[in-house]
Amino acid sequence: MLVDGTPHRTVDWRDGALVLIDQPVLPHSFRLWTTRDHEQAAEAISTMVVRGAGAIGAAGAYGLALATRQAPDGDFDAYVAQAKHTLANTRPTAQNLFTGLEHVAAAIAAAGGGERPDDARDAALAAAQAYADEDAAACEAIGEHGEPLFQDGWGISTHCNAGWLAFVDWGSALSPVFKAHRAGKQVQVFVDETRPRGQGARLTAWELASEGVPHVVLADNAFGFLASRGEIQAVITGADRIARNGDVANKIGTFGHAVIARHLGIPFYVAFPSSTIDAACAGGSEIPIEERSGDEIAYTWGAADDGSFTRVRTTPLASPARNPAFDVTPGGLIDGLISEFGVFPASEDGVGRILAARAAKAAD
Ligand code: MRU
Repeated sequence: MLVDGTPHRTVDWRDGALVLIDQPVLPHSFRLWTTRDHEQAAEAISTMVVRGAGAIGAAGAYGLALATRQAPDGDFDAYVAQAKHTLANTRPTAQNLFTGLEHVAAAIAAAGGGERPDDARDAALAAAQAYADEDAAACEAIGEHGEPLFQDGWGISTHCNAGWLAFVDWGSALSPVFKAHRAGKQVQVFVDETRPRGQGARLTAWELASEGVPHVVLADNAFGFLASRGEIQAVITGADRIARNGDVANKIGTFGHAVIARHLGIPFYVAFPSSTIDAACAGGSEIPIEERSGDEIAYTWGAADDGSFTRVRTTPLASPARNPAFDVTPGGLIDGLISEFGVFPASEDGVGRILAARAAKAAD
């Protein structure tokens, strides 16, 4: 997407380095973050310099490609295996991270691994680039499949950031919104601020403003009231992991929105590329849910009027805080799964059909 007229990808490769958009300083500052070191790439994922399921999948893939370049010829396989372990242990919930790592690891093995390290290095980079391109293409296709679900004049609610900053390009939940807006539909997006880290208030709002899409930022708990007053006609969110039965892990707070939407008869859609499906996971209770530091609840941070970044504490020093980063929405509350292959029911059958379409494409 364009930033001040210049095309950017959230995760990119330039001159032998991984280039990320530094997300914690958005929307107040736009900075790029560069590394040639897989350990720094891993730290960027765990500290959320790069975040969002698709983006960390691509960052992990490029991180493993970086590791092949750092690996000595004589100890190639052990070095790369350790690097893969380091990258995989950054964040536990988003399936795309593991999909991206396995994609590059398979390419390294197919090229001969430590037996032919130079071939393996070339194969790793080519695989990471292909993975990133596929993520961007899948997200654009999600936009095409999802756009017809929105009617002119609708209010659309979204939670967290599932725009292009959460993927390589386009985004998942926001891709149909961008497409609808570009097609001339009048849509208004209701952006949950998404406590505690504010991905909605900081990132989704910035993306929508940059694209000129009408939107308002809401406190997370305002959705039910505005929806009950008829201001919101649909909800669309992204996903961090999809179980085989159609259950969805997404940013904490998603489940509550789905319950309210069902109560009010408002359609609730979940958009994701097929790389988010965990075929080994039978149901949502098996999805590992990240618990982050309670400091993210106790403090908030942002730019002061003079432009400096600062954090302030909002809770009593004596009060502990819990910070589960994701929740699970049962497939039964979801009206459609929007993937790059089309819109499917949130059920074993629907997820199976997406997986079959992905396998058919891979076999092509
Ligand atoms: O910001 P994160 O990485 O903690 O959150 C992940 C997400 O981006 C959201 O849950 C999003 O809705 C999933 S789609 C990338």
